Amino acid sequence: MNKGKNIVLMGFMGSGKSSVGVQLSFRLRRTIEDTDKIIEGREGQSVREIFVQHSEAYFRQLETNLLEELVQKDTKKIYALGGGTPLLEENRPWIQQLGTVVYLRAKPETVYERLEKDTTRPLLQCEDPFDRIRTLLEQREAVYESCADAIVDVDGKSVKQVAEEVASQLGFPSQEEKEKYLVINGPNLNFLGIREKSIYGTQDFAYLLDLIQKKAKKCHIHIESYQSNHEGAIIDRIQAAYFDKTAGIVINPGAYTHYSYAIRDALASVPIPKVEVHISDIT
Ligand code: S3P
Repeated sequence: MNKGKNIVLMGFMGSGKSSVGVQLSFRLRRTIEDTDKIIEGREGQSVREIFVQHSEAYFRQLETNLLEELVQKDTKKIYALGGGTPLLEENRPWIQQLGTVVYLRAKPETVYERLEKDTTRPLLQCEDPFDRIRTLLEQREAVYESCADAIVDVDGKSVKQVAEEVASQLGFPSQEEKEKYLVINGPNLNFLGIREKSIYGTQDFAYLLDLIQKKAKKCHIHIESYQSNHEGAIIDRIQAAYFDKTAGIVINPGAYTHYSYAIRDALASVPIPKVEVHISDIT
């Protein structure tokens, strides 16, 4: 499904190409480019101004030129296309060449609800915008479908849900699989704030757990904290991480650092990136 190059978001006005593109860009750590924005930047005019001061045909030519230019580049980005880009038949092979094309399919009611008060779409500045949306969608549906490698229905879904569906249809691991981390604290770390304060400080273990969760929130990842004073229990948790698709382990093995070959072996057994950390200076 994923042609490996760019991800191309296509669909009618208001289907969420730009907002889903931004969400996907965070999710997949890829740059997002909006073809309307590129054209506006180059022309120094909004799409609406281009339509009024030049013509729709002039704008369509700019879209074709831009597509032709973009397919020459070896990029791995996300492109949000203007809603009318696939209308010209000559554009369709370019769109397909640009990357994996995802059609964000929206019902006319959804589009109308989202764009009712929008004045930036020249094609919807008319007496009866709902009727225009319905007619244009009817005309375009087959074109969108014929260009699409994947179709995601957007009605009633949040931007995040749609982005997640796009990622999953393109074969990217789910957010949970990709971003689930495990922090293991070994023996006596639950005694922070009580034990040897001159070495380990005065903050307690709850404070450390809270710091970890704040960091998780900031990084939009899931972190499970696990603490045990028992060597075997720590080994069991490390082995379980292999099956629950943990993306990375951070471990403070406490005193086991110095003599637990069994924990060392467990860590070496799981093909998961891991980092060893300590609070005191162990050198
Ligand atoms: C158009 C959609 C617009 C913009 C122009 C024409 C169309 O882009 O390119 O107003 O024909 O559907 P969005 O789909 O980003 O609104």
